[in-house]
Amino acid sequence: MPPIIKIFENSQKLATAVADDFIQSVRAAKNRHRFTVALSGGTTPRLFFEILATACANRIDWQKVHIFWVDERCVPPDHPDSNYGMTLTTLLSAIDIPEINVHRMRGEADPQKEAARYHREIEQSVRKTKNGWPVFDWMLLGVGEDGHTASLFPGSTTLDESESFCVSAIHPQTGQKRITLTLPVINHTRHIIFMVSGEKKAAIVAGILKGAAGHTHLPAALVQPVHGAAEWYLDRAAAMFLRDEIV
Ligand code: 6PG
Repeated sequence: MPPIIKIFENSQKLATAVADDFIQSVRAAKNRHRFTVALSGGTTPRLFFEILATACANRIDWQKVHIFWVDERCVPPDHPDSNYGMTLTTLLSAIDIPEINVHRMRGEADPQKEAARYHREIEQSVRKTKNGWPVFDWMLLGVGEDGHTASLFPGSTTLDESESFCVSAIHPQTGQKRITLTLPVINHTRHIIFMVSGEKKAAIVAGILKGAAGHTHLPAALVQPVHGAAEWYLDRAAAMFLRDEIV
């Protein structure tokens, strides 16, 4: 199913729209006792997290929300690169979410062992399909200028993983060790949002969304959810090579 594209005037309106979608999604699951979320790190989600932590904090029943990560850098949680650390500072420290609902990838641990442990934690905490894959309710993804998403990098063998929910990875430019959810787990998510901001991402966004040559096998292009279309939330700068209505 082709992706759904939503374009917003600027990064503030983009982040507000993602926050609104999150709130609506949690509310739509009001009859379910648990709402499972997998978050990306990097810089783009910060504004979204800050909006959730301030304007929206009391509009969400955090008691039922379980937070996971799509990936983590293999650093301690207090390291400036830590995705968990960034989420703690911008969101978790400001909301009333039970500690047991926060499922941190332990960046300080041995990557292979932590990937196996996190597989087990997902297995125990996230509802599954008949074929055994976990089904996260909501997932926030970003995209790198090389077309990576989570810590699934172009040409990596991690893209072929067909059994594990979580594997270790290595950033091809920096050599930084990573832990990442695998493509089948991402593609079994109920509702996936790509959040992309800034003109530096405009070329990769256009290449992926237009199915340009050399882009169709990039990790972000391989996100083809089994339950429906991925939604690409873009600001005007990231969408500068696309022609769509400004929302
Ligand atoms: C990470 C993210 C990664 C991110 C993209 C975009 O750990 O870095 O999960 O996949 O979403 O690299 O990052 P920016 O938002 O910083 O551009």
